[in-house]
Amino acid sequence: MSGDEVTSVFKDRWSAYQWLVENNLMGLREILVAARSFIQDRYKDSSVTLTDFGCGNSLLIPELTHSVQLDYYFGIDLAENALSMAQRLLESNRIKYRQFCQDLFLGMPQVSCSSDLIYSAFAVHHGDEQQKRQFFSNLYQQVSGECSFVLADIMIHEGQSFNDYTNIMEQYFVGQGVRSDWLPHIMTHIRQYDYPETEDSWLDIVRSSGWNVVCKQSVGPVEAFPAIFMILDR
Ligand SMILES: C[S@@+](CC[C@H](N)C(=O)[O-])C[C@H]1O[C@@H](n2cnc3c(N)ncnc32)[C@H](O)[C@@H]1O
Repeated sequence: MSGDEVTSVFKDRWSAYQWLVENNLMGLREILVAARSFIQDRYKDSSVTLTDFGCGNSLLIPELTHSVQLDYYFGIDLAENALSMAQRLLESNRIKYRQFCQDLFLGMPQVSCSSDLIYSAFAVHHGDEQQKRQFFSNLYQQVSGECSFVLADIMIHEGQSFNDYTNIMEQYFVGQGVRSDWLPHIMTHIRQYDYPETEDSWLDIVRSSGWNVVCKQSVGPVEAFPAIFMILDR
């Protein structure tokens, strides 16, 4: 499985993903509130350089960072179309940025090793368990001791089958009015390329890579497939 295959649905059908975000079908608004509250508190007295893994079109970044002094923003994604959209947004919000069109599982680009904060929302689940472990472990070694990590991603309940998880999600999407011409593409992508972890598995992956979990909560609009929100410290 290549990063390009995984990101094809985002390259071809960004508007479908955008619709899910705008209608808060994945709970990104709740994640924004939780992440912003942490960022405001942690960086109220200092500036911050932020690296975003699987940034997409960086839609929430201006809102996430508007109350702190953002020195630099680094966005990593393989979907060029999303990166172009992000450019316009970042420029109109006068955010200094640099983008990397590369596989997020390659880890921190050299230039952004001085990041104070790593952020990743709904992207790391595109790697299997081994890739996730490698990713967190590499980052732990690449960044400085002051760096924190805000992670939001999909979660599956203990004992729930992947089949059951995707079927419930599909019914939810139908009920929420996802367009019928989008639905098969979205569900094919999810069934092929999503690797949700249970809460225990996420915790084990990040902790065994060296990260300390300073906050963990379950967020999202649907109990059947909550997202995990974690703040990690070195
Ligand atoms: C569900 S979207 C999330 C976008 C954004 N973080 C947000 O919260 O709206 C997942 C993003 O991860 C990107 N992505 C998935 N796998 C990737 C990989 N291996 N390398 C780089 N980007 C990847 C996709 O292109 C897409 O933009």
